[in-house]
Amino acid sequence: MGKSSAAHRHRCFGVLLAGALTLLGLSGCAEVLSLQPKGLAAERIADLWWFQFFLALPFFLAVVILLLLAIRRHSRGGDVRQRNHGMKMIVWGGAILPALAMLALMSHTIYTLVAVTEPAQHAELSVEVQGKMWWWKIGYSNGEETIFTANEIHIPAGEPVALELSSDNVIHSFWVPELNGKRDLIPGIPEGFWIQADQPGTYHGQCAEFCGAQHAKMHFLVIAHEREEFLEWLELERQPARVLVEGDENFRGQQAFLEAACVSCHTIRGTIASGMIGPDLTHMGSRRELAAGTLSNVTGNLAAWIVDSQQFKPGNLMPPMPLPPQDLLGVIDYLQSLR
Ligand code: CUA
Repeated sequence: MGKSSAAHRHRCFGVLLAGALTLLGLSGCAEVLSLQPKGLAAERIADLWWFQFFLALPFFLAVVILLLLAIRRHSRGGDVRQRNHGMKMIVWGGAILPALAMLALMSHTIYTLVAVTEPAQHAELSVEVQGKMWWWKIGYSNGEETIFTANEIHIPAGEPVALELSSDNVIHSFWVPELNGKRDLIPGIPEGFWIQADQPGTYHGQCAEFCGAQHAKMHFLVIAHEREEFLEWLELERQPARVLVEGDENFRGQQAFLEAACVSCHTIRGTIASGMIGPDLTHMGSRRELAAGTLSNVTGNLAAWIVDSQQFKPGNLMPPMPLPPQDLLGVIDYLQSLR
């Protein structure tokens, strides 16, 4: 008996410790994945959360107080049957009040659902978002052609942006807590969604559905610009890479890239590199992060990633690329020049 209660205490302690560590972990990453609403839909969702919280709070306190009173009476040896208020308590506490609370919750939930399902204003821009293992393929179509980038969604601020979510592998979940709730990307079932950022800025997103070994390293950025600035970005993004010729800076790096196995997985529009397995690299020098937020896009990280990406993200589809040092340096300079 003593042994089993000690074991029980240890189990409880273990659970508490795990909970505390989880909380510490959450507070640690709060800087990155903020829950502070910064867009219309996220504001509605946050309102609903606080509504639920303040509605549940008095019920929780009332139950705790009643429980403490009951314990006190019981420990004094009073006859509970003589003092309770029987039916009245059951009707009010067990039926009327919970029914009113549920009705209020349901109404607010339906109101929120209606508000976040469709934006009030028509979305002029539509962006394709495809979940990969484990990165995000982002497409912008102008009706004639679609250009692709990776792990960065650029949008104009202050207006809703439609998203076409899809996956050709497993289920992922698109989540930018500051801008809207979660939405799953289900293979074979394209899903419409939308986000809105009230102000220009950078918002962090994360895959929110376990999708394999590197699920945690499936981060992305939403970068909201003023409309003019966004159109400039899109115009620049549509440009193919300049094909370098003998004598140009980074020509050797370009050649080293085009002669290596890189081209079978990556596209650099304008060149013969047209692989579709990995991210499009046409403007990769301008991106802030590598490998869906695994590393920041700086020289040392890029070199280490090319040489052996598996040490940073085991199981990703990119094989180690042990290029000769001169070629490696050239490829890095070339990739960084792609802006
Ligand atoms: Cu993709 Cu988790």
